[in-house]
Amino acid sequence: MQAAPTPVGGRTVLLIVCGGIAAYKTLELIRLLTRAGLRVRTVLTAAGKQFVTPLSLQALTGEKVYEDLFSLTDENEMGHIALSRSGDLLVVCPATADIMARMAAGLADDLASTLLLATDKPVLIAPAMNVRMWDHAATQANLATLRARGVMVVGPEIGLMACNETGPGRLAEPPAIAEAIFRHLAEPAIPGPLAGRHALVTAGPTHEPIDPVRYLANRSSGRQGYEVAQALAALGARVTLVSGPVDLPPPTGVTLHRVETARQMLAACRDALPCDIAVCAAAVADWHVAAEATRKIKKTAGALPPALTLVPNPDILADLSTPGPNRPALVVGFAAETDTVEQHAAAKRLAKGCDWIVANDVRPETGIMGGMENEIILITGDGAEQWPRMGKQDVATHLAERIAAFFTPDFSSGRSIS
Ligand code: C5P
Repeated sequence: MQAAPTPVGGRTVLLIVCGGIAAYKTLELIRLLTRAGLRVRTVLTAAGKQFVTPLSLQALTGEKVYEDLFSLTDENEMGHIALSRSGDLLVVCPATADIMARMAAGLADDLASTLLLATDKPVLIAPAMNVRMWDHAATQANLATLRARGVMVVGPEIGLMACNETGPGRLAEPPAIAEAIFRHLAEPAIPGPLAGRHALVTAGPTHEPIDPVRYLANRSSGRQGYEVAQALAALGARVTLVSGPVDLPPPTGVTLHRVETARQMLAACRDALPCDIAVCAAAVADWHVAAEATRKIKKTAGALPPALTLVPNPDILADLSTPGPNRPALVVGFAAETDTVEQHAAAKRLAKGCDWIVANDVRPETGIMGGMENEIILITGDGAEQWPRMGKQDVATHLAERIAAFFTPDFSSGRSIS
């Protein structure tokens, strides 16, 4: 479990548990929150009660569990308006398609929906549902409405679900939800130049399946992207990190979405919008296999090896850079080049439509790809800047500071790059 980034103890979370197979994971979430010193009050919907019992919630929180809108006892103890404002944060977990629709429509026909309508506190939801329900235009419209009203969203993750379908819809893991809660509650304690900004970072390679056991990949370690995510969070940004398969611990205070393929990475990035900043540090595979075999491809003695037909992957950087209402104010791409680095990178900046390019020389003799150090040229609309060779963490820190200065021209860390 990740530690809370700054002390959050003594604060109260009002946790609304809705009906869904994933509701059992809420028990683990409560343990993570109470261990960090948070007080957790729970509200259990009628459907939620089919999956977890009031007794489990009461045992883990040490608090009364609220269930009914019209309970005289509850009204004597605390009215629903007071209850809705009694926490520092309202969390809906799991957030079903149904509660999202009712929140978006402003319904108030049970205790949970009434609290969500009456509250003056921030709200965070952790959606979980079948992939088709998640992808449905109605759910996506409700999600956009809720986001536009300032509701924070963690997940869902992409993966195999209880219904045996695969795709986005699986509840984010409890540590990721806890991190988002800690992050929000800690925010006032760490006002940085990027406080109130949402940054999206991609990192790592992608794996493009050939069959259930084989895939196409590259040597990216993900280190530079993870450092950038951490550095942006340290300056106060709310950070969503969309990562391909890597062997790195999740950065503290960052919401992490793990994906495998480029197509999943694009979907997770689009889900994370709107954001103010996008930094695409992932080494996205350029192609995927046209027809992924559903069974392991057998080698047959004497037969020719199978021919793989490759088709281009979506370009996530170009997609995020496309002008439109959701385009981040600042989009930063990376360019790994092996010759005429600056010219190629400058051309890439224009071709992809991004604002800045962080270019590096990845000839094997530089040791940059997969290594701890980096030597970059930052290309902006104003020209190119060569930075000296430094650790990837320092590159990330300086880049985050440059990003902060883009939004707050007065911002200066007082540190020089050389
Ligand atoms: O085209 P190239 O791979 O050289 O571009 C590198 C930049 O574009 C990086 O920022 C990388 O994260 C991004 N990219 C992407 N989606 C792709 C290919 C590259 O976001 N399919």
